[in-house]
Parts: sequence; structure tokens; C-alpha cells
Amino acid sequence: MSIQRWDFQEQARELRGQRDLSTFDLVSIDDLSPEDIEIILDLAKIFKESKAEKLSLLKGISIINAFYENSTRTRSSFEFAGKHLGADTINISGAGSSVKKGETLLDTTETLAALQPQIIVIRSEFSGMPEFLARHVSASIVNAGDGWHEHPSQALLDLKTINDHHGSVKGKVVTIVGDVLHSRVFGSLARLLKKQGAILRVACPETFIPEKGVEVFGFEYFSDVEKALQGAEVVYALRVQEERGSKGYIPSMREYSKTFGISAKRLAMAHPNSILMHPGPVMRDTDVHSALVAIHDQSKILDQVENGMAVRAAILWMIGERKDGSVKAYKAL
Ligand code: CP
Repeated sequence: MSIQRWDFQEQARELRGQRDLSTFDLVSIDDLSPEDIEIILDLAKIFKESKAEKLSLLKGISIINAFYENSTRTRSSFEFAGKHLGADTINISGAGSSVKKGETLLDTTETLAALQPQIIVIRSEFSGMPEFLARHVSASIVNAGDGWHEHPSQALLDLKTINDHHGSVKGKVVTIVGDVLHSRVFGSLARLLKKQGAILRVACPETFIPEKGVEVFGFEYFSDVEKALQGAEVVYALRVQEERGSKGYIPSMREYSKTFGISAKRLAMAHPNSILMHPGPVMRDTDVHSALVAIHDQSKILDQVENGMAVRAAILWMIGERKDGSVKAYKAL
């Protein structure tokens, strides 16, 4: 028997009860308590099942997606998630906005906030920009990726993807391979995996290790990717971020691919029940060999994208509609 639209809404409402997130903004994984993470993942299950339906949980809520850096997955899934829950969503991009005329991001965001949306989802090349803006506007700010810093909704959808396959990440070996230095995905995922009790390994050229990375994120470093892959239950490849100057840290992309690229032979060195993940966009034959990208049995790259909509719907609902009726306090300039 198929579950009807009303049932999805009732299930979501019942599961949520009177709960609110412990934060008004989502700029870092560290904003979230263990209970926040649990409710987001539980709600995401319902929103994934209900994706063919239009719900009305965010009816009357306005969301602005302000993307000042390119995006395919994050932008489309935040928009889809808002629409799925019945919110009014509009999209702003850097190229089509007055940012191109020299307006500061603070002035632009205050201008957007004057339209009184409940949520502004922001992607910016500047690390720390969402946190700065969150202090100055009453709308809730959701970080959709800031510079080299964090991408919290990506980490949450990654956790859901791992849990869907392995049940839980606690005690599981997760090997992250690639340009962790320039990766905001790494910034959020490493924080979240540490909170969830995963065993984290990192394989990359030594030049890609963030200063104090081992201390802050608690990973074991490997210069030999094949050793890092032995027994790994999750193999997570990252893109070499040429647009952030990564090429200056390695001899050549060809050498990187040969030394660190994930091939079928290397994937076979991981645990037999391992999964392959990548946040996208994938640089085929550099970070991951083409044959593994979307169709390989162990590849969860498209599942990550699908989970993105569901997890982002959960985040938007929890942030956009507070049960306790409290209003965000912010510090005016
Ligand atoms: N993973 C990710 O952030 O992809 P997009 O840049 O396409 O949004």
C-alpha cells in the first residue's frame, strides 16, 4: 500500500514533535548538537520517501538561495528541497547580482534580508562569510559552502549515505583521499565523523595537509594511498581544487592521478563491503577513474546527490519554522 501525502506530513510532524534545532543558523557542523544531527537524519528519511509529493510544511516561508560561487548539486537540491516543502524560493547568483557592480556581500545580504525571508542560503568564496553575515541579519543563514572552510549540509548528506549502507559510521574506517587543504567538504565531514566516532584516515601529498590538521581533526595521515585503503569501509575521494591554487602544491595533475587517483585496483584493496563516495564535481581520471564514477556497484556518488535533497529539506524545515516561537537575536553594526 502506498503512503499518502498527508501521511508523510503527519509522520514528519509526529517525529519532530516540539523540537527545534539548538541553533538559528547553520554555518558549521559545530553548531549542531548530537540531538540536532539525529533529528535531521530521521526527518531526511521521510523527505526522501516523499520526494514525488508536494508537501506544505514550509508554506508561507520565504527562502533566498544566494550563490556567489558556481554550484550544481547544492543549489539545485536546496531549491528543490524548499519547493518540496511548499516554501517560496528565489535564487540569486553572483553574475546576475549587484555584487558585480561592487556592492559588498554585507550590503547585498542586508538588502535581501530587508525582503524578510526566514532563511538565506549562502555560498561564498570567502571563508567565514556566512558566520559574519549571520551576526548582522535577522534571517537565518545556512552555509552552502564558504571558501576552504565548511560545507555542513554536504557532511550531513554524506553521513546519511554512509549510515544507509553501513547502519552507522561509529567504529568504521573512513579513508579520505585528496586535496583536504582546500576542501570545505573535508572541513565539515572531518568534524562530523569525529563527533560520530569514525576512524578517520587521510591520504594525500604532504603539501595538502592543513597545519595542525592531525591535532584538530584527529586523523591518521598516509602518504601511501594503498596503505590507507587497506580495510577501509568508506573510500571518500576529493577533487584537486585548481581554482584555489592546488596545482601549486603538486608536481602535476598526471602525477597526482597516478599516485592518489582511485582506480578499480585500488578500490579492491578496501574492505569488501566498502563504498566509494565523492562530493562532486568529479574530475574523471584524476580523482576517480571513469569506470567507477556513477555505475560501479560500490559507487554511492549519485546516492549522495539524492540524499542531498532530503537532508536539506530537513535542515530548512527545522530552521525555517521554529516551534518555540523564539526570534533570532542579532548584533546590529
Ligand atoms: N558538492 C558540491 O558542493 O557540489 P556543487 O558545487 O555542484 O554544489
